Amino acid sequence: MDRLVINGPAKLSGSVCVSPAKNACLPIMTACLLNPNPITLKDMPTLKDVETLRNLLESLGVKSEVDQKDIRFDAGTIESTDAEYELVRKMRASILVLGPLLARERCAKVSLPGGCAIGTRPIDIHLEGLKKMGAVIDINSGYVFAKTGTEGLVGAQIVLPFPSVGATENLMMAAVLAKGETTITNAAREPEIEDLGNFLNAMGAIVEGAGESIIKIQGVHIDKLKSVSYRAIGDRIEAATYLIAGIITNSEIEVKGFRTKDIASVCDELQSMGAVFEVAEDQIVVKKHDEIKGCNVDTAPFPGFPTDVQAQMMVLATKAITSSVIREKIFENRFMHVPELKRMGANIIKKGNLAMIEGSASLSAAPVMCTDLRASAALVLAALAAEGETVISRVYHLDRGYENLADKLSGLGVDIKRI
Ligand code: EPZ
Repeated sequence: MDRLVINGPAKLSGSVCVSPAKNACLPIMTACLLNPNPITLKDMPTLKDVETLRNLLESLGVKSEVDQKDIRFDAGTIESTDAEYELVRKMRASILVLGPLLARERCAKVSLPGGCAIGTRPIDIHLEGLKKMGAVIDINSGYVFAKTGTEGLVGAQIVLPFPSVGATENLMMAAVLAKGETTITNAAREPEIEDLGNFLNAMGAIVEGAGESIIKIQGVHIDKLKSVSYRAIGDRIEAATYLIAGIITNSEIEVKGFRTKDIASVCDELQSMGAVFEVAEDQIVVKKHDEIKGCNVDTAPFPGFPTDVQAQMMVLATKAITSSVIREKIFENRFMHVPELKRMGANIIKKGNLAMIEGSASLSAAPVMCTDLRASAALVLAALAAEGETVISRVYHLDRGYENLADKLSGLGVDIKRI
């Protein structure tokens, strides 16, 4: 298994361009199941999760070919509606094939995604919504068995008990081919939802309000869908990670290729801590700063502070001159990075979903291990600020969501090697 060796403390300079967003690309890829016409997704990031999902789609009969950074999908005929455990267990987002398969083939057998490091990750909100659209759902032996009546899914008024990103995406896709209108109230408002809505409309669906709390989808006949070529939005979480890399090393760097409005909550929090930015529409220049003060952050659904930036924020908090409090309100176990950061010298007290971080820690290099995607990014940030050579193992977690991380960091002047 590969490891990253990072020499700190690092000084960064130059510019980094983020890749298209993993969390936009994945639902857009599963949406290809709805459409029998060829679809080209442009400039796709080389990520483990994209590869895993492409394999899963191939197992369902979707032909795909990679051309440089573009991937061309052809879901002319769906040969199977069984998403096997072997493939689903590698990536929870595989559950996003359920809605499109039901809409297109009127039946689906999808392995329960199972938990992951950050929580049990239930799918009850997905399933309740699909039942409202007429799906009959049975769960046994670790699989979801779903089927519809002979006329397929029917549009429904759905109110989500929680603005679940995945449930919103599954239900949007299911509604595209359902009979009549579907309304999703208390929908997730993440930018990736808005991007999925734009993609669905580009291929001939009728989706209004994606990215807002109420989304309306008019079902269309499958013959109305057409070929489309599409590029997902830039990855706001990757961008936030590089912004924090610039701040924690007190460097001046440019981070570009994303919509800065997509991480307004992160930028507000960082600036209130003392970070200095020059913000344009699709790039941010991090300037040198005076002292960084602590933060008091609760993670929340968009437009609140994103849970996917919580671990990275915690690392920055260890270097602030005053102490910080971070509450993880989205996932039940998303502090896996805390023990590893403590081994590097951070002073963090964890109480349930609350972490109290003492400031002015002098982080020192140590061999550390990745546990989940964003915790791994936090360890990289800590290594940039730590004194000495940090060896990070199990970097396959990073490969799931950060394209060419080592190359991008060495492009910013970091002494980093992948061995
Ligand atoms: C998406 O996960 C993202 N993944 C996650 O990013 C992100 O952290 C999360 O949204 C929140 O923003 C992708 O987009 C592929 P949720 P998802 O459904 O859809 C509970 C990363 O690092 N819940 O909004 O699974 C759930 O347990 C990943 O890139 C239910 O209870 O998030 C969790 O506590 C990690 N029942 C909360 O809602 C359900 O049916 C948020 O889950 C669904 C969710």
